[in-house]
Amino acid sequence: MEWFQKWDKVLDDSDAPFYKWFVGGKTNIVHNAIDRHLKTHRKNKLALIWVGEPGDSRTFSYFALNREVSKFANVLKSMGVKKGDIVTIYLPRLPEQMIAMLACAKIGAAHSVVYGGFSVEALAERIEDAQSRVLVTADGGWLRGKIIALKDIADEAMARQPTVETCIVVKRTGQDIYMEAGRDYWYEDLMSLPIAGPICETEPTDAEDMLFILYTSGTTGRPKGVIHTHGGYMVFTYTTLKYVFDVKDEDRWWCAADPGWITGHSYIVYAPLINGVTSFMYEGAPTHPYPNRWWQMIENHGITILYTAPTAIRGLMRFGDSWPNRHNLGSLRLLGTVGEPINPEAWKWYYTVIGQERCPIMDTWWQTETGGFMITPLPITPLKPGSATRPFFGIDVDVVDDESQPVPTGEEGYLVVKTPWPGMLRAVYKDPDRYREQYWDKFKTMYQTGDSARKDEDGYVWVIGRMDDVIKVSGYRLGTAEVESALVSHPDVSEAAAIGLPHELKGNAIHAYVILRAGVEGDENLAETLRDHVGHEMGPIAKPETITVVDTLPKTRSGKIMRRLLKARALGLPEGDVSTLEE
Ligand code: PRX
Repeated sequence: MEWFQKWDKVLDDSDAPFYKWFVGGKTNIVHNAIDRHLKTHRKNKLALIWVGEPGDSRTFSYFALNREVSKFANVLKSMGVKKGDIVTIYLPRLPEQMIAMLACAKIGAAHSVVYGGFSVEALAERIEDAQSRVLVTADGGWLRGKIIALKDIADEAMARQPTVETCIVVKRTGQDIYMEAGRDYWYEDLMSLPIAGPICETEPTDAEDMLFILYTSGTTGRPKGVIHTHGGYMVFTYTTLKYVFDVKDEDRWWCAADPGWITGHSYIVYAPLINGVTSFMYEGAPTHPYPNRWWQMIENHGITILYTAPTAIRGLMRFGDSWPNRHNLGSLRLLGTVGEPINPEAWKWYYTVIGQERCPIMDTWWQTETGGFMITPLPITPLKPGSATRPFFGIDVDVVDDESQPVPTGEEGYLVVKTPWPGMLRAVYKDPDRYREQYWDKFKTMYQTGDSARKDEDGYVWVIGRMDDVIKVSGYRLGTAEVESALVSHPDVSEAAAIGLPHELKGNAIHAYVILRAGVEGDENLAETLRDHVGHEMGPIAKPETITVVDTLPKTRSGKIMRRLLKARALGLPEGDVSTLEE
């Protein structure tokens, strides 16, 4: 990696927990992700192979990617985007998603990517928090043979949040859409104007300059904007990918996540490019048109490393072995998983049927906040299915009790990180108190992950799951508070509680309980209406599995909903300590 100016200090902990890394250093992550390679043999190497769901495909060499990123960076500049601005990107899985992110970073602006599966209110509140003047979106994207009409959702969100002055629209699906004169511009039109010149200097940034914010769910309230910076994030994502997946020049790396989540930010966009590998990206659903789609693409493109989530593995496993068995998966040499604990059946299937007992599985534990892999095997580590094994180099984790004391081997406790690391979040955007409260108040000098775990006699970590009001649905992170606020935004609902219950494919599914407003009758139709309402506000992933109408919700005397109790009752488990329950 290259720096424009070397740092004076690696770690500045004088204002803990607001740690700073590589203080005084000057760089730009795009310099290392693209510019640096243009001086080497990688200039004409493929940076990205992209396949659309309908079967179309596009490829970009490092040279071509640089051209597109530079052109779009010039477009953004001509719209007045500069250091300190945050551009919101709301796109399907398209090359333009990567191009837009890199273009922001190149000129020193920050990006806030909103997952394309989110909907109106989720998008609106992120635009509002970031005060974005520029939004990049598309007319639509393909999923399961259907068009997801992103621009319609964006229009509704912009109506709720009028901060957006310019909306740039990538043409993907081609159906007629509403374009507002003076606000909406086609990406392709802008890219053909003289303002989109092919040369753009990469702006030197301080190591600690903001690279992006990414909103994620926490225990309470609205999603929080997790901040990552150029220097530390660059070093950490590069290093973790290099060592954990042993990436080499000849690899074809496929991280099957969405760039809209941290997994995609770190391991589709930044780390693979910094490492100079060829990334593969696929727009659509794994089962479209048939459940062999992924296996066919692995064969066709000679994918060497596949990194995905347990929920995707379970989803494909249920179609049986014959789909993968039709294909030659011999190019694979390593597999990976992330997002939730992997159950033994899914691990076994992944290992034997997909990896043909030849490919070790890197079960990587990490979070939006950690920037990159934290607990993970290396290809040489002896594996235990279901355990992310041991911490990465330089990462110090432990499992502790309420008094910050390590729990005995084999016992469950809070998973904490004991020392800072370069890829850590720097703060919560515009909310330093929330950063302290959420991550540092409980264990003071140790970072609170929000997960529970246990360690075995070999020091292997077994992550159990979230201890807070965060639900992992198909590996996606959602907060009960967001689902509840979507529910109560419906005129018929006065109160709501959401919990996660185990689900065979999704890992967890959301179940909601609602109290209706006086005079409203609850029936099947209403439940369906409310589910659709949550889908419209938040996105399809947040739709509750069931909605039950109730007269009361269990609450503490201070008025907090006791979700733990709802969950215990739903699962038929003992109710535990109910001394705080109101009469
Ligand atoms: O509960 C852990 C689970 O995912 C949470 C972080 O979610 P998010 O910020 O969306 O990032 C997901 C992708 C990095 C964690 O608190 N989790 C993630 N990876 C694993 C995991 N649980 C068990 N095993 C994993 N490998």
